[in-house]
Amino acid sequence: MAVQEQKAESTLDRYIAEIRAAWRDGKDPQLPFKVQAAMEKLLASTSPDDPWMAELIREGKPSRELYRDSEHGFIQMGHVHKQGHGNTPHDHGPCWVVYGAFTGVTEITKYQRTDDGREPGKAALEKERLDRLTPGVVVPYLRGDIHSTNAVEGPGVVFRFLSYDLDRIDRSRYNVEKGTIIPVPAR
Ligand SMILES: [Fe+2]
Repeated sequence: MAVQEQKAESTLDRYIAEIRAAWRDGKDPQLPFKVQAAMEKLLASTSPDDPWMAELIREGKPSRELYRDSEHGFIQMGHVHKQGHGNTPHDHGPCWVVYGAFTGVTEITKYQRTDDGREPGKAALEKERLDRLTPGVVVPYLRGDIHSTNAVEGPGVVFRFLSYDLDRIDRSRYNVEKGTIIPVPAR
């Protein structure tokens, strides 16, 4: 009998398989927390020397799509952020995201709106919470959560799970000082 060479399953393969098994119709409100638990396991069980992680670190790209699920539409991104890399407050429209740090420290500020939302294009934001993502820490941001990120210690290898392709949905950025909303339409 011929000996079949079996390609070893990577920690990333196992992580994706776990999410696919939990996904069903994608509407379970516990899903973001199931992905959080799966990502915590992924970060804890992956070595910097594992081939897929070593490649991500070696390439050092600010943004890379690691996996896209053609059936369910979710996407797993991998980022290598230099210290000081950050963005302005934004939401992810109807989608939810899960952020996790493998190396470095990324601070994520979560905001709450203090206005009543009645004036078009205007939003008053107040800082609600500061999450400090040290290696191994994973935090979900649910539908409509407004947040901004800042790599305070780098380079930071950051994982970002997207419940859907953000380029295909309408979302918003926010100018805190001016109290304005900047629409980010779907591409
Ligand atoms: Fe975000």
